[in-house]
Amino acid sequence: MVSVIPVHLYLAEVLVRQAAKTMNPKDIVRDGYDRVSYAYRGDEAGADGAGLPQYTQWMSELMPLLPGGAPVLELGCGCGLPVAKRLAERFSVIGVDISPVQVGRAQIAVPDARFLCADMTKLVFPAQTFAAVVSLYALIHVPLEEQKGLFADIHRWLRPGGYFMATVGHRAWTGTEDDWLGVEGGTMYWSHADVATYQTWLSQTGFAVCWTRFIPEGDGGHTLLLAQSALA
Ligand SMILES: C[S@@+](CC[C@H](N)C(=O)[O-])C[C@H]1O[C@@H](n2cnc3c(N)ncnc32)[C@H](O)[C@@H]1O
Repeated sequence: MVSVIPVHLYLAEVLVRQAAKTMNPKDIVRDGYDRVSYAYRGDEAGADGAGLPQYTQWMSELMPLLPGGAPVLELGCGCGLPVAKRLAERFSVIGVDISPVQVGRAQIAVPDARFLCADMTKLVFPAQTFAAVVSLYALIHVPLEEQKGLFADIHRWLRPGGYFMATVGHRAWTGTEDDWLGVEGGTMYWSHADVATYQTWLSQTGFAVCWTRFIPEGDGGHTLLLAQSALA
């Protein structure tokens, strides 16, 4: 038996599929975060990570490893809360995000840090600029084929012995979700490998992986990792 769906529903679905196909993943992510910025994180999340105890825990593990005033880069910094705000209390922070709305909010929320609105895969910094690079829940939005090259960039930007703390995938998956976080038109794109692949890529790029940790979320989860570039 052939099932028949109303023509207007079919056309709407075609339009959505076409839009998803013709939009570059980076455009989907940028436009998506412009739309869902406040749904993802409200302004009430201060440096102490109100309601976000995991971030407080993670920063308390990273920060003692770095000397006061050290240059720290945050990739995919979002609205700056809570991570850039917390880091800026002790370090010289540059935050980068592809979404103009996120960067605009971060500039207001964290006046002590500098922010760039840019694609993290297109950045240029001199070698050995940073004592640490942090990227939480952001690399997972970068198309998989660009991620290993980004690790090489991060390794080059780090000083010898510098630290890289990041959220990466636990299981491999690439895909999109419409109306993410209940925001109409808020399509989002993710792309990640499994944790074993990330460990291989990091080792091949010159990092020593200090630890990896499964961070549960809903039915699945991500991997938080700390890696260190080789000491000179
Ligand atoms: C899930 S949010 C996480 C924000 C913040 N790191 C946190 O954990 O609260 C991901 C952020 O990464 C940014 N992002 C995704 N892809 C990016 C890219 N290619 N370059 C720069 N920023 C990117 C998004 O715009 C978004 O603000």
